[in-house]
Amino acid sequence: TIAEARAFIAELREQRRGKDAGNLVGFVPTMGYLHEGHASLLRRSRQESGISVLSIFVNPIQFGPGEDLERYPRSEEADLKLAEREGVDVVFLPSVQEMYPEERKTTVTVTGVTERLCGASRPGHFDGVATVVSKLFNIVKPDKAFFGAKDAQQVAVLQKMVNDLDMDVEIVPCPIVREEDGLALSSRNVYLSEEQRREALVLSRSLREASVRIENDPNATPRRIVEDVTRAIQASPIAEIDYVEMLSFPDLEPLDEELGLTNLRKAGGSVILALAVKFGSTRLIDNAIMKLK
Ligand code: PAJ
Repeated sequence: TIAEARAFIAELREQRRGKDAGNLVGFVPTMGYLHEGHASLLRRSRQESGISVLSIFVNPIQFGPGEDLERYPRSEEADLKLAEREGVDVVFLPSVQEMYPEERKTTVTVTGVTERLCGASRPGHFDGVATVVSKLFNIVKPDKAFFGAKDAQQVAVLQKMVNDLDMDVEIVPCPIVREEDGLALSSRNVYLSEEQRREALVLSRSLREASVRIENDPNATPRRIVEDVTRAIQASPIAEIDYVEMLSFPDLEPLDEELGLTNLRKAGGSVILALAVKFGSTRLIDNAIMKLK
């Protein structure tokens, strides 16, 4: 009947779902080798939903040739223990065959926000991420999905995908979890030698220093900030920079150098200072997102 016609997406969804928050499904997609960063997402999911689903799947199509797919660390037993400890209700641990049974003819591509940062240095990576996350969303049908700001571009890409395709799931970004000395937790940190682990501290340290400068130095410009961070990292003899960039967030567009930060501040926008640096064959990423005030 005409009385039941629904003109707005949000309204249609509200009606379909009902209003019982206790039945909300929270979802945390991962590639396993779980650490406290993953655990923080699982805790958040448990707080905000009635049922928490964890997926563990090392997704081959988001790795490029020559990347670490074959040696990506795995530890199913420890992962399941952590899941149990964090009160996960369902663990989805599919095989590659289960996820990609025959030749795939569909790929989800998000443009624009994938052009810079990791999108530029890892061609095809975000197609792989967007495609597997779409599949996982269709399988799990979550109401909310929790992602770490450690992979800030991933959050921006998935947020765009969900908006553009009207996927009925809320992307919830969660803060970066760090070691006491500042290093952002990552499954890939196990690859680091003692020396590399020590030198890698330059990443979080230089981001911290840059954040202070962005907040306090009226003469700071995006270029100067990037130069500072680059210089600090180059001071480490074993660090090899992939990129250091400062962009708008979440659009990930270049900042107008002429405008400077004072004008950006007036506009009240957010910026991201993001970096990817190799120590030996291990590539680490880190970032700081700041609301300019
Ligand atoms: P993975 O690297 O296992 O990360 C799973 C989730 O944990 C991501 O949302 C990531 O941002 C978050 N995470 C990792 N380290 C974190 C830290 N130190 N603090 C907070 N959150 C952290 O990201 C992926 O897997 C994959 O690309 C995936 C989304 C599962 C698709 O295959």
